[in-house]
Amino acid sequence: MTAPLIHTRDVAVELGGRPVLRGIDLSVAAGEVVAVLGANGSGKSTLVRTLLGLVPPVRGDVELFGTRLDAFRAWERVGFVPQRATATSGVPATVGEVVAAGRLSRRTPFLPLRRADRDAITAAVEAVGLGGRLGDGVSTLSGGQQQRVLIARALAGEPELLVLDEPTAGVDVQSQRAFADALGGLVARGATIVLVAHELGPLADLVGRAVVMRDGRLVYDGPPLAAFTDADHGHHHHGAPRGTDHVPTVAGPLDPLSREVE
Ligand SMILES: Nc1ncnc2c1ncn2[C@@H]1O[C@H](COP(=O)(O)OP(=O)(O)OP(=O)(O)O)[C@@H](O)[C@H]1O
Ligand SMILES: [Mg+2]
Repeated sequence: MTAPLIHTRDVAVELGGRPVLRGIDLSVAAGEVVAVLGANGSGKSTLVRTLLGLVPPVRGDVELFGTRLDAFRAWERVGFVPQRATATSGVPATVGEVVAAGRLSRRTPFLPLRRADRDAITAAVEAVGLGGRLGDGVSTLSGGQQQRVLIARALAGEPELLVLDEPTAGVDVQSQRAFADALGGLVARGATIVLVAHELGPLADLVGRAVVMRDGRLVYDGPPLAAFTDADHGHHHHGAPRGTDHVPTVAGPLDPLSREVE
């Protein structure tokens, strides 16, 4: 049996002296597309950042590709798109340069881009709807477009494991569809995807499994239910009042009896 791509055992994280993640047991197998859902502040970003070694757990273990994080070195197999920051202006690079950076781990240093690199960069930029903007400065783009540049950079690296934190927040539906197609292409080539989302939108067809966070715990792990994909609980942006809770839409599956056991 091959090791899961992601495996955690009883992981706990504290931030600012406060427990933020507790008792996280999560395994993700190769080829899965997993959505991480939950209310604002429930720990979704902390979870994915912990999986990538960006936040140290106070207890428990994390393994990627069967290797404990402290020994893991194969970061070229992993892509990450962080949650959109509020202020990212002043970046001097062009769209093409930023996306090309996603190929660095696959390139031979100091040689011109190979055909495969150029093709991957072009495909990635088109996938996020910025095909004509390769030469534009990133700082001239809107916040949503800058986020799409970061997505393109991750796609260009053709990672085996791609982790995205709210990639489609604030992105128009047409761009979401193009992005879903691009992710579908990665999945067809065997990639594994973990994405944080408030609503799945055009990504719903790709997602095979949902995990739901509440107060730092995984409270549901199973098939994505229709309730998750309904847009009727509204687009949820930062700045929305804390305590606005999406979890009631999964009241049924919170029943421990329906919790999926791996
Ligand atoms: N650096 C930090 N120091 C202290 N507390 C933090 C820190 N980062 C996050 N937290 C707290 O940890 C909890 C989980 O935060 P996290 O960002 O993981 O939630 P989230 O589910 O991603 O929320 P959102 O939907 O708003 O992105 C929140 O209560 C947050 O205030
Ligand atoms: Mg978050």
